[in-house]
Amino acid sequence: MNARDIDLATIRMWPAAIAEQHHGWFYLASGGVTGRVNAVWPLEWTGRDVNAAIDHAEAWYAARRLPPRFKLTDSAFAPADLPDRLARRGYASVMPTLVMTAPVRATNATADVILHDTLPAAFGAAIRETSKDDAEYDERLNIALRAPQPAAFALIEQDGRAVAIGMCAAAGDLAGVFLMRTAPEARRQGLARQIFRALMAKCGEWETTTAFLQVDADNAAAIALYESEGFSPLATYRFWRK
Ligand SMILES: CC(C)(COP(=O)(O)OP(=O)(O)OC[C@H]1O[C@@H](n2cnc3c(N)ncnc32)[C@H](O)[C@@H]1OP(=O)(O)O)[C@@H](O)C(=O)NCCC(=O)NCCS
Repeated sequence: MNARDIDLATIRMWPAAIAEQHHGWFYLASGGVTGRVNAVWPLEWTGRDVNAAIDHAEAWYAARRLPPRFKLTDSAFAPADLPDRLARRGYASVMPTLVMTAPVRATNATADVILHDTLPAAFGAAIRETSKDDAEYDERLNIALRAPQPAAFALIEQDGRAVAIGMCAAAGDLAGVFLMRTAPEARRQGLARQIFRALMAKCGEWETTTAFLQVDADNAAAIALYESEGFSPLATYRFWRK
């Protein structure tokens, strides 16, 4: 299992509104709010002229009124001189994100966690509460609605409201975890850990072998949770933008 396999699985499990492939690069576009679904993923290179390809990508995003962004995962981008070429054109890298993985092990889910195969309304309400505005909510909700099957949407309710959520989806041997969120007033009560274990139990039922997730490198709280559940960093990716 390498970082490129995980990037390819992420494109399937966390689907952008629009996905096209040009000269080996994936062009993803959605509402322009979050990074992964609004960037070029240059996972292989089958073209000839890299600068012309960057021109093409810039025009493709401009046509959608989006700024051009490239997502480069260490050891999984091509061609090798792409960072130098982007830097020469005024791009800089921002926001390192860790890709973490762990073997999927048999785990028991706890009784407090409610699991759904498709996105329930209460899960959508929790995305709304933890998004900064309507645009972010729309983008995240629509990605979750497009998630392929099998998928699992986990939530813990208190007083009829979802206070902790998380989802996972599978593709082949790989399972990806997304949208881990606990309402601010319900944090540090072990809710995300319960959600996480319920999702891992589901990944075990699907007979996936490796689970992965992506987390901002400065998100110490989430990294501590994932490390304590056996996850370790496999790679780092960075967005490059002007
Ligand atoms: C990350 C997040 C989901 C954790 O939710 P939570 O319900 O508070 O987590 P838990 O109470 O289950 O904590 C589990 C473990 O995570 C770690 N952790 C959680 N919050 C932490 C904090 N503020 N600082 C350090 N470690 C923390 C601890 O290891 C904790 O175990 P412990 O309490 O036994 O020490 C929550 O902080 C959140 O919603 N953050 C904003 C959204 C986000 O960043 N999501 C993750 C995206 S990848």
